Amino acid sequence: MSLEIDILNGDASWPMAEPLYNAVWPPEVVKTLPWADIAFAHADLRVLVQNEAGDVVCHVGIYRREVTWNGRKMRAGGIGGVISREDSRRKGYASIALNAAVQTLKDEGATDFALLFCEPHNAPFYVGRGFKPFDGEIWCEQPTGRVRFEAIAPYVHQLKRAPLRGTIDLCGLPW
Ligand SMILES: CC(C)(COP(=O)(O)OP(=O)(O)OC[C@H]1O[C@@H](n2cnc3c(N)ncnc32)[C@H](O)[C@@H]1OP(=O)(O)O)[C@@H](O)C(=O)NCCC(=O)NCCS
Repeated sequence: MSLEIDILNGDASWPMAEPLYNAVWPPEVVKTLPWADIAFAHADLRVLVQNEAGDVVCHVGIYRREVTWNGRKMRAGGIGGVISREDSRRKGYASIALNAAVQTLKDEGATDFALLFCEPHNAPFYVGRGFKPFDGEIWCEQPTGRVRFEAIAPYVHQLKRAPLRGTIDLCGLPW
């Protein structure tokens, strides 16, 4: 089977990603999830995996962000919106897309660490792909102001240097 893997501008490629989001995370599902009421950033880039029929079957969003760690500036590469279509899971698509996202951040050269947030049942997937739990506090912006972000747990992947504890301020909306 041939797959097409593209890394595209986040806003321009949203119409391609949107049907997959709606299929995996329709409103009735989102409202049951721990992050239902959180305002999220929009991806700067999107990794899109298309099958032979041209359907987008997997998506990973990439967010570039200058954050602070214990008050010092660091460059985080956010990873979010990791989704595979239900009928296209356990084929390695999310692994391929995640690798492409991490490689993109590595190639850009400026990113200190990749950072994602996930629910406990997905943690083994990321730990198996080189991510480590960040055992500290995360702060972020929300429409109501600056808040502690605790709805989903942070995991980091070292590119140049990755903090494992302390306080990270996302300096913007989470992803
Ligand atoms: C989490 C999610 C993105 C994984 O997507 P996926 O495309 O199925 O991921 P992969 O196929 O790369 O890997 C999933 C598992 O299938 C296994 N797998 C990969 N290729 C396989 C194959 N050909 N045959 C059987 N198993 C396979 C992988 O080893 C992995 O298991 P492991 O974590 O124990 O190693 C998907 O389940 C999903 O969309 N969930 C709903 C949305 C969600 O919760 N997203 C995460 C937000 S943080």
